[in-house]
Amino acid sequence: MDARPIGMYDSGVGGLTVLKEIYRELPEERIIYYGDTARVPYGGRPASEIKRFAREIISFLRAQGVKMVVVACNTSSALALDEARMLFKMPILGMIEPGVRAAVKESRRGRIGIIATEGTVRSGAYEAAIRRLMPGAQVVSQACPLLVPLVEAGKTDSPETVAALEGYLEGPRSFGVDTLILGCTHYPYLTRTIRAILGPGVSIVDPARHVALEVKEVLARENMMNPHKNGDDRFIVSGDPGEFARLGSMLLGRHIANVEQISVEDRTAVGS
Ligand code: DGL
Repeated sequence: MDARPIGMYDSGVGGLTVLKEIYRELPEERIIYYGDTARVPYGGRPASEIKRFAREIISFLRAQGVKMVVVACNTSSALALDEARMLFKMPILGMIEPGVRAAVKESRRGRIGIIATEGTVRSGAYEAAIRRLMPGAQVVSQACPLLVPLVEAGKTDSPETVAALEGYLEGPRSFGVDTLILGCTHYPYLTRTIRAILGPGVSIVDPARHVALEVKEVLARENMMNPHKNGDDRFIVSGDPGEFARLGSMLLGRHIANVEQISVEDRTAVGS
């Protein structure tokens, strides 16, 4: 048994799609969520920067006493997870492997599409993980740089968002994907529109649920579950706390109170 909280982070409100699933699977766990909203979006940034942000945020979360970190951001999972796992001794879980395992199970014809940020697509992390599990898979990746800023502006149903998605989904649709992975934690807020554009023949995989199940599995295996929720969750952002509280509460479907503002920049202490 381990009553310490779980740390999670994303560039903004995207990781709340993962938090929702963690609440469902692990209601007794206490959470410290960090949203790096002063530096969102992550998607177009170089790998070196994403790695530095990961070091800063995970060092910060470790200093808050977390027992594990969930990297609730695909861009960070694609570019910084391996390094973070070498630098820090606690369990660190990412988005990509659980999402790929689910997609490979779901896919009937092995034609798998991924929509994600530029950084995730450029890394090739999804293709590599798919090919490891399904060597014959045919994979198409589409970067969608407009989507994270639109979601962070609360425009999940706006005509601009629908138009952007129609453009981005053209490639995967003409490729004939049977399964589409939502390779960015901001995209599950757009599932309804994505489903309407692709039609019922395409399975949509949101890795969030599979990540939450993996968190549960690791905690059970390591005997690290929290028996009783022993305090409130904390929500911390690098940008505007009021804005995060308002949009985050709406997207999470629960009231987020007392958002703290803490910058983690230049927290370079890493290791163990
Ligand atoms: N939610 C992050 C992801 O899953 C978004 C990255 C961004 O800020 O562009 O990749």
